[in-house]
Amino acid sequence: MSHGTVMPVDGPATLEWSEKAKAEVADALSRYPVKRSAVLPVLWIAQREWGWLSPAAMRLVAGSVGLPESEVFGVATFYTMFNLVPVGRHHLQLCMTLSCSLMGADRLYKHLQKKLGVSHGETTKDGRYTLRKVECLAACGKGPCMQVGFDYHENLDEAKVDALLEKLK
Ligand code: FES
Repeated sequence: MSHGTVMPVDGPATLEWSEKAKAEVADALSRYPVKRSAVLPVLWIAQREWGWLSPAAMRLVAGSVGLPESEVFGVATFYTMFNLVPVGRHHLQLCMTLSCSLMGADRLYKHLQKKLGVSHGETTKDGRYTLRKVECLAACGKGPCMQVGFDYHENLDEAKVDALLEKLK
């Protein structure tokens, strides 16, 4: 099931690693026999640094792990955990896969759409929330499930989502 490809947007022309990130990248590279194998952790470091993966960030990652930019782009676009556009302060990732869907994820998605005035991949005007449909979050027994940042919220219904949004304000 595809939720539509979110295409990257322009960002800064060039980027450089911070000193802290540079050390983390070096550490990631040292853990693999070949540099290219570190592409996932290095993409992750880039996303933590800038919140999303701009073309400049992916170029920097490509240079760091010795891969062509096209391959880094291919990896980054494969995983929904990588943001190809800037995201809001709270990234709401709602699981739409079968178990969560059967437990009401579609209803919750419509509720969030209406409440926030945004759809999949969009950010509220105040920059507070980005809403995204994602595939299975591996909490299938406790659906519907939504990941907010690094936190999981399970067994959700409209009232719980409303309370959660209130808390995140
Ligand atoms: S189906 Fe939603 S967490 Fe697996």
